Amino acid sequence: MSTTEPTTSPAAGDRRTNTPVLQTVDVAVHFGGVKAVDGVSLSMDEGRIYGIIGPNGSGKSTLLGALTRLTPLTRGEILFDGEPFQEVPASQIAARRIARTFQTVRLLPDLSVRENIQLGADASKATGTLGWWTRNLGTAGSAAVDSAIERTNLGGFDDWRPAEMSYGTQRRVEIARALALDPRLLLLDEPVAGMNQRERGEISTLLKDLRNEGLTMLLVEHDVQMMVDTCDYVFAMNMGRLIAEGRPTDVVRDPQVQQAYLGKRFKHA
Ligand SMILES: Nc1ncnc2c1ncn2[C@@H]1O[C@H](COP(=O)(O)OP(=O)(O)O)[C@@H](O)[C@H]1O
Ligand SMILES: [Mg+2]
Repeated sequence: MSTTEPTTSPAAGDRRTNTPVLQTVDVAVHFGGVKAVDGVSLSMDEGRIYGIIGPNGSGKSTLLGALTRLTPLTRGEILFDGEPFQEVPASQIAARRIARTFQTVRLLPDLSVRENIQLGADASKATGTLGWWTRNLGTAGSAAVDSAIERTNLGGFDDWRPAEMSYGTQRRVEIARALALDPRLLLLDEPVAGMNQRERGEISTLLKDLRNEGLTMLLVEHDVQMMVDTCDYVFAMNMGRLIAEGRPTDVVRDPQVQQAYLGKRFKHA
């Protein structure tokens, strides 16, 4: 059923079996007494946009970290292409064409926009899922870099330094760096935070275009309207657990989901 070959081809046109791209079984991440993620089982098929919603502190970012092996599991299992993911060396994650962005900007300030994006392109060296980038500026993947720059509307910013750009534009550079890997699984943690409405619309359109080309995505985002407009399927978390999943419009109307958000709002009021 599963194949032992590493995935080297881009996702486009590479529709495979019914094996989910990513699957978790009872995944938990505890930090001492804090049960940040506590028994999450989910499954993601190829070529769809999945979303995770939930109030602050519900475990969304920790789950992304667990899915990319940044954060060790307390218990549970992750399967990538049907294979136990814990057995894939961390240095091989990029070679499997898994890319991610972080909730906070992690660009190298002394490199240009193009150089920052270039860092994401070399699958043999990229360590982006772990949150750091080797200073490897080979020529590998320059077509992918050009494409990533074009798709994120960063043409003309090539020589800029991150500090010269607005926060929203820096976030677009982060997305471009992840795209430079030509990923087949892309995880995005609050990609449109700090962006205006027009930029949000552009990112939503970009993600849907990528989905239509076969890319599988998992998106964490606070902007519920963006999630409804963008995702094919949504998981809702509260206190480390999944409390609902399904079509975005159904999930946001779910009484338990509404209660989770309301409870949080009352707490902070
Ligand atoms: N490295 C860590 N050490 C201790 N507690 C953590 C750590 N990372 C996250 N947490 C806690 O885990 C919970 C979930 O956090 P997080 O995954 O960041 O939530 P979200 O992304 O949904 O806002 C929070 O209570 C947070 O304080
Ligand atoms: Mg978070």
